[in-house]
Amino acid sequence: MKLLKLPIIAALRWRIYYWQLRNTPPRGTTLKAVEFLKDTPKNLPVIDLGCGHGTDSLVYLRAGWQVIAVDKNKKGLQILKKRAEKEQLSTNLQLICEDFTTFDIPPCVAVNANFAFPFCKENRWDDFWQRINNGLVSGGVVAGQFFGVEDSWNKKGHRTLHFPEQKIHDLLKNFTIISWKEVKKIGKDDLNQSKFWHVYHVLAQKK
Ligand SMILES: C[S@@+](CC[C@H](N)C(=O)[O-])C[C@H]1O[C@@H](n2cnc3c(N)ncnc32)[C@H](O)[C@@H]1O
Repeated sequence: MKLLKLPIIAALRWRIYYWQLRNTPPRGTTLKAVEFLKDTPKNLPVIDLGCGHGTDSLVYLRAGWQVIAVDKNKKGLQILKKRAEKEQLSTNLQLICEDFTTFDIPPCVAVNANFAFPFCKENRWDDFWQRINNGLVSGGVVAGQFFGVEDSWNKKGHRTLHFPEQKIHDLLKNFTIISWKEVKKIGKDDLNQSKFWHVYHVLAQKK
């Protein structure tokens, strides 16, 4: 019974997260990616994995990109749909309610994955990363965050995935790093609880 309730609790927790972040600006990695890609032909889509309520998807849409937004939370996708309709941007938006780790990533110019990678299950990571590499064309970019090992969520029984810095460099061996920022700070989580954040914010271009 307890196990059955867990996905519901997770879905509700994400709803709170969307509400709390409803007025926050787009992620820096996304803004950098859009600027970096500004002269790239727009014949391939951007994939926004774990798009949530879509603040970053909207940035790509406004810049003229087609966006495939993937999230397993229906509420987030509904909010994004409404936001895109309000700005008359929904014709270039495809919404996919699916587990992003098993989604077949089509050929794309960018994989935007802000605060999404850490929510991949450890046993799904290698296949997921391979899917990203298969979909992303040469010259395309990956934008997102990896959680570091000093993060206070890096403990037994916690759902998030954490990598040592060297492992992230290994994952990006076929990429050129465009932007790399490591942040270590005490802050709050989505439930307003104090925690230590150890986050690598990365924008990298596939060779
Ligand atoms: C921390 S939020 C990030 C939302 C947004 N990208 C941002 O930067 O604010 C993580 C999002 O990933 C989604 N998510 C987590 N695991 C997922 C999975 N395996 N498949 C699809 N979506 C997932 C959650 O529903 C949530 O919307």
